[in-house]
Amino acid sequence: MSKKVAIILAAGMSSRMNTKLPKVLHEVCGRPMLAYVIDACRLAGVHKLYIIVGYGKEQVIHYFKDDKDITWIEQKEQKGTGHAVLCCKEQLADFEGDTLILCGDMPLIRPEIVKTLVDKHDHESAAATLATAILEDTRSYGRIIRDGYGNIQGIVEEADCNAQQKLIKEVNPSYYCFKNTVLFEALSKITPNNKKNEYYLTDALHLIIKAGHKVVAVTAVSQEDAIGVNSRQQLSEVGRIMQQRIQDRFVKNGVTIVDPPNTWIDARAQIGQDTVIEPFTYIHGKVSIGNNCRVGPFAYVREGTVLGSDVILGVFTEVKNSTLSDGVRARHHSYIGDAVLGKNVDIGAGAITANFDGHKIQTTQIGDNVFVGCGTVIVAPINIPPNTQIAPASSVTSESLKKETK
Ligand code: UD1
Ligand code: CA
Repeated sequence: MSKKVAIILAAGMSSRMNTKLPKVLHEVCGRPMLAYVIDACRLAGVHKLYIIVGYGKEQVIHYFKDDKDITWIEQKEQKGTGHAVLCCKEQLADFEGDTLILCGDMPLIRPEIVKTLVDKHDHESAAATLATAILEDTRSYGRIIRDGYGNIQGIVEEADCNAQQKLIKEVNPSYYCFKNTVLFEALSKITPNNKKNEYYLTDALHLIIKAGHKVVAVTAVSQEDAIGVNSRQQLSEVGRIMQQRIQDRFVKNGVTIVDPPNTWIDARAQIGQDTVIEPFTYIHGKVSIGNNCRVGPFAYVREGTVLGSDVILGVFTEVKNSTLSDGVRARHHSYIGDAVLGKNVDIGAGAITANFDGHKIQTTQIGDNVFVGCGTVIVAPINIPPNTQIAPASSVTSESLKKETK
């Protein structure tokens, strides 16, 4: 197996999204769509990534600034997918391995399909391998043209299709693997001789076939996985499918989700075995929920929350950037922000941490077995010793605590 790098195309402007944010930074279940494509490449064994950026490139690069395996390549003018790949010429022209090419706006891409593509490519010792999809609605996709023996003859873009080609159901979802030197040789010869006046990557494929190299296809991409995001409608459609995948993963791992359509869980969340997620729960951000917890209904669990085991978060409870140790209960109407709660703390109905004084966020610490009466306001910064009992409707500050304990 030869070495693999990937080129991800992400320079497009996306006028149909009607957005100022670069398209690939739009979020799907809490992560930018580009992040999923990057993951799929890494999990499929790609060792280096080249990402083509153009519109909003600073923002995209900034978002992924900690990802050291990425080389960012600028495409100043968007002159087509073939031109985009050619922008890597300086970095890649002499690379002797294989190059995967994928699009940054296809977050439903799955690592196992990329792996299937790569395995087929290696197994066949092909110059180019495509993963194709059979679709009901083929609109806007390039059609796969095969001869009577099933050999790939090329891809024709929707705009360039004749009436008969338009009926072809096998399409190009843009999952490619090329022998790199063959790819760049062909790219140096393509011209913008099409309706859109663009340099098409698919034309390079034609040249590779014409030159007699081996090109194969594997029909491996499901209808779902082929959805690219070109509009806000597709963004929500993809979000819905991704949400289902995330929930399926948890359910397989022993989490009960009582009402899947009315539950939203971030792709970055972790949830332990035998935890029950009640309806209308919204879990956003990098959150970790332990085993045997009960969350919701109507709970809002936010970025930076860590719940131990046997934690109960009930109706209209919001938790942000806080650690709740084993056995904590906050059953009704409370807000816990920037706090660390010891074991078995009981937060009464309507109790809140006042963590923001108008200027600064302050932290709250509550020791093991503290009982917080209903309607209490705990004013941060504060450290409440273990076993403290707080009467209902108290306003607890550091000062009031000192007086109490004198
Ligand atoms: C492309 C394929 C088509 C395929 C479809 C799948 C070509 C010529 N056509 O068409 O066969 O069915 O994808 O979605 O390749 N991009 C750049 N720079 C450019 C142009 C595009 O980075 O100059 C990026 C876009 O940001 C996008 C991707 O390349 O992520 C695909 O470009 P797009 O214009 O959407 O191609 P399609 O017309 O959809
Ligand atoms: Ca597209």
